[in-house]
Amino acid sequence: MITIRQLVEEGTKQLKAANIDEAQTHGELIAAFVLNKSRTYITAFGGNIVFEKDERLFRQILEEKLKGRPLAHIIGTTEFYGRIFNVSPTVLIPRPETEELIEQAVKHLTIKQPQNILDLCTGSGCVAITLAFLFHSAAVVSADISKEALAVALKNAQNLNVAKRINFVQSDLFEKIENRFDFIVSNPPYIPSEVIATLSPEVRREPKLALDGGATGLEVIERIVKDAPKYLNPRGTLALEIGYDQAAKAVKLFKPRNWHKPVIGKDISGVERFVFAQRK
Ligand SMILES: C[S@@+](CC[C@H](N)C(=O)[O-])C[C@H]1O[C@@H](n2cnc3c(N)ncnc32)[C@H](O)[C@@H]1O
Repeated sequence: MITIRQLVEEGTKQLKAANIDEAQTHGELIAAFVLNKSRTYITAFGGNIVFEKDERLFRQILEEKLKGRPLAHIIGTTEFYGRIFNVSPTVLIPRPETEELIEQAVKHLTIKQPQNILDLCTGSGCVAITLAFLFHSAAVVSADISKEALAVALKNAQNLNVAKRINFVQSDLFEKIENRFDFIVSNPPYIPSEVIATLSPEVRREPKLALDGGATGLEVIERIVKDAPKYLNPRGTLALEIGYDQAAKAVKLFKPRNWHKPVIGKDISGVERFVFAQRK
Protein backbone atom coordinates (compact mmCIF):
# COMPACT_ATOMS: atom_id res chain seq x y z
CA MET A 1 0.00 0.00 0.00
CA ILE A 2 1.23 3.46 -0.86
CA THR A 3 -0.05 6.96 0.02
CA ILE A 4 -0.50 9.88 -2.37
CA ARG A 5 2.46 11.66 -0.74
CA GLN A 6 4.78 8.66 -1.06
CA LEU A 7 3.82 8.21 -4.71
CA VAL A 8 4.39 11.90 -5.49
CA GLU A 9 7.72 11.86 -3.63
CA GLU A 10 8.86 8.80 -5.55
CA GLY A 11 7.82 10.35 -8.88
CA THR A 12 9.49 13.67 -8.00
CA LYS A 13 12.74 11.90 -7.15
CA GLN A 14 12.81 10.06 -10.47
CA LEU A 15 11.92 13.20 -12.45
CA LYS A 16 14.66 15.18 -10.68
CA ALA A 17 17.18 12.44 -11.40
CA ALA A 18 16.21 12.67 -15.09
CA ASN A 19 16.71 16.49 -15.01
CA ILE A 20 13.05 17.16 -15.80
CA ASP A 21 12.06 20.75 -14.94
CA GLU A 22 9.58 21.39 -12.12
CA ALA A 23 9.79 17.78 -10.94
CA GLN A 24 7.57 18.23 -7.88
CA THR A 25 4.90 20.13 -9.83
CA HIS A 26 4.83 17.39 -12.44
CA GLY A 27 4.64 14.67 -9.77
CA GLU A 28 1.63 16.44 -8.24
CA LEU A 29 -0.01 17.08 -11.60
CA ILE A 30 0.28 13.43 -12.59
CA ALA A 31 -1.28 12.37 -9.26
CA ALA A 32 -4.04 14.98 -9.71
CA PHE A 33 -4.83 13.67 -13.19
CA VAL A 34 -4.79 10.01 -12.12
CA LEU A 35 -7.04 10.62 -9.09
CA ASN A 36 -9.19 13.15 -10.98
CA LYS A 37 -8.63 15.72 -8.22
CA SER A 38 -7.10 19.20 -7.99
CA ARG A 39 -3.44 19.76 -7.08
CA THR A 40 -4.61 21.32 -3.82
CA TYR A 41 -6.32 18.03 -2.95
CA ILE A 42 -3.09 16.13 -3.66
CA THR A 43 -1.12 18.24 -1.16
CA ALA A 44 -3.93 18.48 1.41
CA PHE A 45 -4.77 14.75 1.45
CA GLY A 46 -1.30 13.31 0.89
CA GLY A 47 -1.88 10.69 3.60
CA ASN A 48 -4.70 8.95 1.67
CA ILE A 49 -4.03 5.49 0.29
CA VAL A 50 -3.89 5.12 -3.51
CA PHE A 51 -5.76 2.25 -5.23
CA GLU A 52 -3.54 -0.18 -7.10
CA LYS A 53 -5.05 0.67 -10.50
CA ASP A 54 -4.35 4.38 -9.91
CA GLU A 55 -0.80 3.61 -8.80
CA ARG A 56 -0.29 1.63 -12.03
CA LEU A 57 -1.59 4.53 -14.16
CA PHE A 58 0.63 6.98 -12.22
CA ARG A 59 3.67 4.85 -13.01
CA GLN A 60 2.73 4.53 -16.71
CA ILE A 61 2.40 8.30 -17.09
CA LEU A 62 5.61 8.85 -15.10
CA GLU A 63 7.43 6.48 -17.47
CA GLU A 64 6.30 8.61 -20.47
CA LYS A 65 7.21 11.83 -18.71
CA LEU A 66 10.68 10.46 -17.96
CA LYS A 67 11.14 10.00 -21.73
CA GLY A 68 10.77 13.79 -22.07
CA ARG A 69 7.20 13.96 -23.38
CA PRO A 70 5.27 17.07 -22.30
CA LEU A 71 2.63 16.14 -19.72
CA ALA A 72 -0.10 17.86 -21.75
CA HIS A 73 0.70 15.51 -24.66
CA ILE A 74 0.60 12.43 -22.44
CA ILE A 75 -2.73 13.26 -20.84
CA GLY A 76 -4.08 15.08 -23.93
CA THR A 77 -5.31 18.19 -22.13
CA THR A 78 -4.15 21.33 -20.38
CA GLU A 79 -5.77 24.20 -18.48
CA PHE A 80 -5.96 27.72 -19.91
CA TYR A 81 -7.83 30.64 -18.36
CA GLY A 82 -9.72 28.23 -16.10
CA ARG A 83 -10.91 25.94 -18.89
CA ILE A 84 -9.70 22.56 -20.08
CA PHE A 85 -8.33 22.41 -23.65
CA ASN A 86 -7.45 19.39 -25.74
CA VAL A 87 -3.93 19.47 -27.09
CA SER A 88 -2.05 17.23 -29.50
CA PRO A 89 1.45 17.23 -30.92
CA THR A 90 0.08 19.38 -33.79
CA VAL A 91 -0.49 22.43 -31.55
CA LEU A 92 1.54 24.51 -29.13
CA ILE A 93 0.69 23.73 -25.51
CA PRO A 94 -0.97 26.95 -24.25
CA ARG A 95 1.33 28.90 -21.91
CA PRO A 96 0.56 31.03 -18.84
CA GLU A 97 2.12 34.10 -20.57
CA THR A 98 -0.64 33.90 -23.17
CA GLU A 99 -3.25 34.12 -20.41
CA GLU A 100 -1.51 37.37 -19.46
CA LEU A 101 -1.60 38.52 -23.11
CA ILE A 102 -5.39 38.27 -22.99
CA GLU A 103 -5.72 39.91 -19.58
CA GLN A 104 -3.55 42.89 -20.56
CA ALA A 105 -4.93 43.22 -24.10
CA VAL A 106 -8.47 43.58 -22.77
CA LYS A 107 -7.31 46.54 -20.65
CA HIS A 108 -5.69 48.20 -23.69
CA LEU A 109 -8.76 48.04 -25.92
CA THR A 110 -10.07 51.43 -27.04
CA ILE A 111 -13.18 49.79 -28.44
CA LYS A 112 -14.21 48.28 -25.11
CA GLN A 113 -16.78 45.84 -26.51
CA PRO A 114 -15.24 44.61 -29.76
CA GLN A 115 -17.86 43.27 -32.14
CA ASN A 116 -15.43 41.31 -34.28
CA ILE A 117 -12.23 39.70 -33.14
CA LEU A 118 -9.49 37.94 -35.10
CA ASP A 119 -7.10 35.48 -33.44
CA LEU A 120 -4.23 34.93 -35.89
CA CYS A 121 -2.04 31.85 -35.35
CA THR A 122 -4.74 30.27 -33.22
CA GLY A 123 -3.19 26.83 -32.53
CA SER A 124 -5.41 25.04 -29.98
CA GLY A 125 -7.86 27.95 -30.18
CA CYS A 126 -7.20 28.87 -26.54
CA VAL A 127 -7.10 32.64 -27.24
CA ALA A 128 -10.07 32.77 -29.65
CA ILE A 129 -12.23 30.63 -27.35
CA THR A 130 -11.33 32.58 -24.21
CA LEU A 131 -12.20 35.82 -26.03
CA ALA A 132 -15.52 34.35 -27.17
CA PHE A 133 -16.32 33.83 -23.48
CA LEU A 134 -15.13 37.31 -22.48
CA PHE A 135 -17.04 39.11 -25.27
CA HIS A 136 -20.42 37.43 -25.60
CA SER A 137 -21.67 39.56 -28.47
CA ALA A 138 -18.51 39.37 -30.59
CA ALA A 139 -18.07 37.32 -33.75
CA VAL A 140 -14.67 35.63 -33.57
CA VAL A 141 -12.43 34.44 -36.40
CA SER A 142 -9.81 31.86 -35.51
CA ALA A 143 -7.11 31.50 -38.18
CA ASP A 144 -4.10 29.25 -38.60
CA ILE A 145 -2.06 27.97 -41.52
CA SER A 146 -2.22 24.45 -40.09
CA LYS A 147 -5.29 22.35 -40.89
CA GLU A 148 -4.40 20.00 -38.03
CA ALA A 149 -4.25 22.85 -35.52
CA LEU A 150 -7.63 24.15 -36.72
CA ALA A 151 -9.16 20.70 -36.17
CA VAL A 152 -7.98 20.80 -32.53
CA ALA A 153 -9.29 24.37 -32.15
CA LEU A 154 -12.71 23.39 -33.55
CA LYS A 155 -12.92 20.39 -31.21
CA ASN A 156 -12.11 22.64 -28.25
CA ALA A 157 -14.76 25.14 -29.29
CA GLN A 158 -17.31 22.32 -29.62
CA ASN A 159 -16.40 20.89 -26.20
CA LEU A 160 -16.81 24.33 -24.65
CA ASN A 161 -20.01 25.13 -26.58
CA VAL A 162 -18.79 28.20 -28.44
CA ALA A 163 -18.24 26.68 -31.91
CA LYS A 164 -21.25 28.53 -33.35
CA ARG A 165 -19.69 31.91 -32.54
CA ILE A 166 -16.28 31.16 -34.05
CA ASN A 167 -15.36 30.97 -37.71
CA PHE A 168 -12.31 28.76 -38.32
CA VAL A 169 -10.22 29.77 -41.33
CA GLN A 170 -7.16 28.10 -42.78
CA SER A 171 -5.02 31.03 -43.83
CA ASP A 172 -1.41 32.10 -44.20
CA LEU A 173 -1.75 35.07 -41.83
CA PHE A 174 -4.24 37.48 -43.50
CA GLU A 175 -4.33 35.73 -46.89
CA LYS A 176 -7.90 34.39 -46.56
CA ILE A 177 -9.19 37.03 -44.14
CA GLU A 178 -11.87 39.27 -45.58
CA ASN A 179 -13.42 41.46 -42.88
CA ARG A 180 -12.17 44.26 -40.71
CA PHE A 181 -11.94 43.80 -36.95
CA ASP A 182 -12.12 45.84 -33.75
CA PHE A 183 -9.47 43.65 -32.16
CA ILE A 184 -6.73 41.46 -33.65
CA VAL A 185 -4.67 39.30 -31.31
CA SER A 186 -1.81 36.94 -32.06
CA ASN A 187 0.70 34.75 -30.33
CA PRO A 188 2.74 34.03 -33.45
CA PRO A 189 5.86 31.90 -33.86
CA TYR A 190 8.73 34.17 -32.77
CA ILE A 191 11.79 32.05 -32.02
CA PRO A 192 14.77 32.59 -34.36
CA SER A 193 15.20 29.44 -36.49
CA GLU A 194 18.71 28.71 -35.28
CA VAL A 195 17.74 28.99 -31.60
CA ILE A 196 15.18 26.17 -31.88
CA ALA A 197 17.84 23.45 -31.72
CA THR A 198 19.04 24.85 -28.37
CA LEU A 199 15.61 24.69 -26.66
CA SER A 200 14.73 22.01 -24.10
CA PRO A 201 13.82 18.58 -25.54
CA GLU A 202 10.21 19.10 -24.37
CA VAL A 203 9.82 22.37 -26.29
CA ARG A 204 11.48 20.82 -29.33
CA ARG A 205 8.70 18.22 -29.40
CA GLU A 206 6.21 21.00 -30.18
CA PRO A 207 5.44 21.79 -33.83
CA LYS A 208 8.25 23.71 -35.54
CA LEU A 209 5.58 25.75 -37.32
CA ALA A 210 4.41 27.03 -33.93
CA LEU A 211 7.89 28.12 -32.87
CA ASP A 212 9.85 29.21 -35.93
CA GLY A 213 9.86 32.97 -36.49
CA GLY A 214 12.42 32.81 -39.31
CA ALA A 215 16.06 33.91 -39.24
CA THR A 216 15.40 36.99 -37.07
CA GLY A 217 12.53 35.50 -35.08
CA LEU A 218 10.51 38.55 -36.08
CA GLU A 219 9.51 37.54 -39.60
CA VAL A 220 5.90 36.59 -38.79
CA ILE A 221 5.47 39.53 -36.42
CA GLU A 222 6.76 41.88 -39.12
CA ARG A 223 4.20 40.61 -41.63
CA ILE A 224 1.37 40.91 -39.09
CA VAL A 225 2.25 44.52 -38.15
CA LYS A 226 2.62 45.50 -41.81
CA ASP A 227 -0.77 44.11 -42.92
CA ALA A 228 -2.89 44.58 -39.78
CA PRO A 229 -3.92 48.20 -40.56
CA LYS A 230 -5.83 46.90 -43.61
CA TYR A 231 -7.83 44.53 -41.39
CA LEU A 232 -8.42 46.74 -38.34
CA ASN A 233 -11.22 49.25 -37.92
CA PRO A 234 -10.07 52.77 -36.94
CA ARG A 235 -9.17 52.74 -33.19
CA GLY A 236 -8.97 48.95 -33.37
CA THR A 237 -6.27 47.24 -31.31
CA LEU A 238 -3.50 44.85 -32.29
CA ALA A 239 -2.12 42.78 -29.40
CA LEU A 240 0.95 40.60 -29.91
CA GLU A 241 2.98 38.22 -27.80
CA ILE A 242 6.70 38.54 -28.62
CA GLY A 243 10.03 36.95 -27.65
CA TYR A 244 11.78 38.01 -24.41
CA ASP A 245 14.32 40.21 -26.23
CA GLN A 246 12.23 41.51 -29.15
CA ALA A 247 10.36 44.51 -27.67
CA ALA A 248 12.64 47.28 -28.98
CA LYS A 249 12.71 45.82 -32.49
CA ALA A 250 8.99 44.99 -32.50
CA VAL A 251 8.00 48.54 -31.52
CA LYS A 252 9.98 49.96 -34.46
CA LEU A 253 7.82 47.98 -36.89
CA PHE A 254 4.78 50.17 -36.12
CA LYS A 255 4.81 53.06 -38.62
CA PRO A 256 3.47 56.30 -37.10
CA ARG A 257 1.35 57.00 -40.20
CA ASN A 258 -0.77 53.93 -39.40
CA TRP A 259 -0.42 53.48 -35.64
CA HIS A 260 -0.64 55.37 -32.37
CA LYS A 261 2.49 54.83 -30.26
CA PRO A 262 2.67 51.15 -29.25
CA VAL A 263 2.81 50.14 -25.59
CA ILE A 264 4.99 47.31 -24.27
CA GLY A 265 3.56 44.97 -21.63
CA LYS A 266 5.61 42.91 -19.16
CA ASP A 267 4.73 39.40 -18.03
CA ILE A 268 4.59 38.32 -14.39
CA SER A 269 8.37 37.70 -14.39
CA GLY A 270 9.03 41.29 -15.54
CA VAL A 271 9.93 40.26 -19.10
CA GLU A 272 8.82 42.58 -21.95
CA ARG A 273 6.52 40.08 -23.58
CA PHE A 274 3.64 41.92 -25.25
CA VAL A 275 3.03 44.85 -27.62
CA PHE A 276 -0.31 46.66 -27.90
CA ALA A 277 -1.08 49.27 -30.52
CA GLN A 278 -4.10 51.17 -31.82
CA ARG A 279 -4.71 51.78 -35.48
CA LYS A 280 -5.11 55.44 -36.43
C1 LIG B 1 3.03 30.05 -30.94
S1 LIG B 1 1.72 29.11 -31.65
C2 LIG B 1 0.35 29.88 -30.83
C3 LIG B 1 -0.85 28.98 -30.64
C4 LIG B 1 -1.94 29.56 -29.74
N1 LIG B 1 -2.44 30.83 -30.24
C5 LIG B 1 -1.41 29.74 -28.32
O1 LIG B 1 -1.19 30.90 -27.93
O2 LIG B 1 -1.24 28.75 -27.61
C6 LIG B 1 1.72 29.76 -33.28
C7 LIG B 1 0.71 29.20 -34.27
O3 LIG B 1 0.90 29.92 -35.50
C8 LIG B 1 0.63 29.07 -36.58
N2 LIG B 1 1.30 29.66 -37.75
C9 LIG B 1 2.61 29.64 -38.08
N3 LIG B 1 2.83 30.32 -39.22
C10 LIG B 1 1.63 30.79 -39.61
C11 LIG B 1 1.19 31.58 -40.73
N4 LIG B 1 2.06 32.02 -41.66
N5 LIG B 1 -0.11 31.88 -40.83
C12 LIG B 1 -1.00 31.45 -39.90
N6 LIG B 1 -0.66 30.70 -38.83
C13 LIG B 1 0.64 30.38 -38.69
C14 LIG B 1 1.16 27.73 -36.14
O4 LIG B 1 0.54 26.69 -36.87
C15 LIG B 1 0.80 27.74 -34.64
O5 LIG B 1 -0.44 27.11 -34.44
